[in-house]
Amino acid sequence: MDQKMMRKKAENIVKELTLKEKIGMIHGAQLFQTAGVERLGIPPLKMSDGPMGVRQEFYPASWMSKNLSDDYVTYLPCNSALASTWNRTLAHDMGSVLGEEARGGGKDVILAPGINIKRSPLCGRNFEYFSEDPYLTKELAVPFVQGVQLWDVAACVKHFAVNNQETERLWVDVEIDEEALRTIYLPAFYDTLMKGGSYTVMGAYNKIHGEHCCQSDFLLNKILREEWGYDGTVISDWGAVHDTKLAAESQLDIEMSVTYDFDSYFMADPLYEKVEKGEIDEAVIDEKVERILLLMMRLHMLDGERKAGAYNTPEHREKTLEIARESVVLLKNEKNRLPLDASGLKKILVVGDNAEAIHSCGGGSAEIKALYEISPLMGIKMLLGGNVQVDYARGYCRDEKTEDSDVNWQEASLENGGGGTKAASESEETAARRVQLRKEVISMAPEYDAVIFVGGLNHDQDSEGNDRPDMKLPYEQDALIRELLTVRPDTIVVLTGGSPVEMGEWIDMADTLVWGWYAGMEGGRALAEVLFGKTTPSGKLPETFYKMHTDCSAHCVGEFPGDDKVRYREGVFVGYRYNDTFGVEPRFCFGHGLSYTTFDYDNPAAVIEENDIFVTCDITNTGAREGKEIVQVYTAPWERKDNQPVQELKGFEKVALQPGEKKQVKIRLEGLAGRCEIRIGSSSRDIRLRLNTKK
Ligand code: BGC
Repeated sequence: MDQKMMRKKAENIVKELTLKEKIGMIHGAQLFQTAGVERLGIPPLKMSDGPMGVRQEFYPASWMSKNLSDDYVTYLPCNSALASTWNRTLAHDMGSVLGEEARGGGKDVILAPGINIKRSPLCGRNFEYFSEDPYLTKELAVPFVQGVQLWDVAACVKHFAVNNQETERLWVDVEIDEEALRTIYLPAFYDTLMKGGSYTVMGAYNKIHGEHCCQSDFLLNKILREEWGYDGTVISDWGAVHDTKLAAESQLDIEMSVTYDFDSYFMADPLYEKVEKGEIDEAVIDEKVERILLLMMRLHMLDGERKAGAYNTPEHREKTLEIARESVVLLKNEKNRLPLDASGLKKILVVGDNAEAIHSCGGGSAEIKALYEISPLMGIKMLLGGNVQVDYARGYCRDEKTEDSDVNWQEASLENGGGGTKAASESEETAARRVQLRKEVISMAPEYDAVIFVGGLNHDQDSEGNDRPDMKLPYEQDALIRELLTVRPDTIVVLTGGSPVEMGEWIDMADTLVWGWYAGMEGGRALAEVLFGKTTPSGKLPETFYKMHTDCSAHCVGEFPGDDKVRYREGVFVGYRYNDTFGVEPRFCFGHGLSYTTFDYDNPAAVIEENDIFVTCDITNTGAREGKEIVQVYTAPWERKDNQPVQELKGFEKVALQPGEKKQVKIRLEGLAGRCEIRIGSSSRDIRLRLNTKK
């Protein structure tokens, strides 16, 4: 059926529905489900989180887990990990795995991907998002969405828009200039919805220019529908609606929330009453229902030809491993200590809580009930087998006291502005225990052939509802790493987490540093493969690793997390756009990531084909190992205007090369305007070739 016929059919169905039935379809009747209309064969719409896999089942009207034995799933890498692969094919594959699993679990809408721009490294949900760069975000999010929707499941791109912090997330009012909004924060939404064809979008919790996003005339009516012409379904974030009339008359289609009194949702009984009294025109409800029916037809929910999907397949686990492999970023390898040669090792020491920590079950709505999760320690042991003795020492510990609560965090998530800034609370006992753990490690370390430290963050820091107060490594890890490097200067430092950390004075002592993200169920195996050279690292940072958070523009202008308002006074100068323009040295720059081999760049040229500019160049693998290089293209205007960054990413390609092999890469440049220098490089600060445009 074509779109026109679908619309006609939707219009006809709407005519047969009663007001009550229509209202049932536009709000949650369960925590993750709307009401269907059985007499007309309209099913309910079933939704689930989220970005890293399909979430466990909850009771319809309670945030208690059903504790089923059959809702364990494939645990995928987080979006930051995916973004550091810079691999469009893998993004499509990851979407496809997620879509197939969602459909396999009987879902209609999967609440992913999260595509908000990383405005500050402190945002607690950054691990769910891709990048600080709109171009990189959309280049990966579009194929992701298309992959999901291959399976007759809708993607739900979130959170529309400018949802860049957790502190006061329900009430914070974002004040942003039009240019920053349109060049930094909206492009990935435009592309995923209008080019990627995402069938649904989730409105954000926060306000923009004084209006809550889920009932915003500016965002939903003017931009999304009128300007972009989006005809998909707009779903609210859970508890993001605040007013019946505003929501009904905005272009929001479905109200969801975290509370169980479904009939009292703003778009439930209160809406019914207002329509009955003539205060709201029933036509606005008809429009919403038509769009929901259109969605159902697109997903083949109203005819019988729908794909079945599947979950926990071996192919899904294999894809997860491939993504995890390419997500590892080698930040430093000054003495070429990596890869480690397993044949020369008799016993190694693995240190650090993150070596054995399990992360899948944390983070907020992105939590996963993983079929399994291979930790770095397990990955290392699995790879080395029985010929190398692998010992483990924890080295540092989290704060032992945990707060027990009967209330699921999500049930309480509408309290206190929806989120805050979480500082670590440490007890004296914990501090003493850490001294003890460090002592133990320091005395053990000299006895081993190699020492691998695996630390970083966990979902106590990277989590929905919380921003970090700073980028410091928690649990006194700075002291531990420094002490370790003093006795073992050859310690391999591995940090895993969802957002960058401040690296203490140990950074100048460490000559080897590896970054891993929450990399899914196969993350530990992938990391081990990189450490021991079975995989050549090929990830590059999708965001700036600042020396400290105060080097980030949002903090420089004193606008994070703001108060009741947050003014995006840094404008378009987000991430490297700020650092490069204003000469702020990052710890590791955007696009940085090393390999075990080397690449030579040569022969640059620019060609115009139809209306597009393409850059070509030759890349040669000049080392002894196979490897993949991410060739990045930045443009730098000749005459920079005040509101223009000195350079911006406009294209990239990832190329695989055998030792000695040479390939020509061809990269389409995105929206090139005006005279500029074209910079081709291995990172934003490692430019290898330059060209000038003629006009
Ligand atoms: C989050 C959304 C999520 C929803 C449903 C909200 O707290 O902001 O991203 O999809 O809950 O769990």
